[in-house]
Amino acid sequence: MTHLVLVGLMGAGKTTVGQVCAERLDRGFVDTDDLVRMATGRTIPELFAERGEDGFRAAERTAVADACASPAPLVIACGGGAVVDPENRRSIASGFVVWLQAAPTVLAERVEADGTERPLLAPRGTTATLERLSIVRAAAYEAVADAVVDTEGRDVSAVADAVLAVFPPPGGGGS
Ligand code: S3P
Repeated sequence: MTHLVLVGLMGAGKTTVGQVCAERLDRGFVDTDDLVRMATGRTIPELFAERGEDGFRAAERTAVADACASPAPLVIACGGGAVVDPENRRSIASGFVVWLQAAPTVLAERVEADGTERPLLAPRGTTATLERLSIVRAAAYEAVADAVVDTEGRDVSAVADAVLAVFPPPGGGGS
């Protein structure tokens, strides 16, 4: 029984798509940002403000490890930057990893619409930052991804269909 792990940049739809996939697979859903919030008693912006990005990443590492260690198979939505950490990549690689993709302009529209405060996007402009992160992080996403799903022009349900079409891996670990 394999975890279904969703990775991708902010705005890729990891949380919304993950929730739908979990319902359809009849398994639990975990968002690593939620685990960080629960473990620290702080919002993500509070954590960045109090402990800096390093403090957030330390809490995120624990969250990713905890989620991946669940004996029950889960759908796990990873915060967009989790893949940068090699230890996280090792944890994540134990599951079946789907990289949700969209162009930075599309991601920017989505994060502006969803209202979630994301500290990394505040200082420099959303599209420019997402363009930069898409370049900087591409190799890390590629290193962990078992499959890639294009989310552009698809609603949440259609993206979930596309994800579940590639999961479980053919002849592989099963769901
Ligand atoms: C981050 C993505 C966010 C959150 C934090 C940092 C990143 O999660 O973990 O603000 O570094 O890309 P989402 O990808 O769910 O927005």
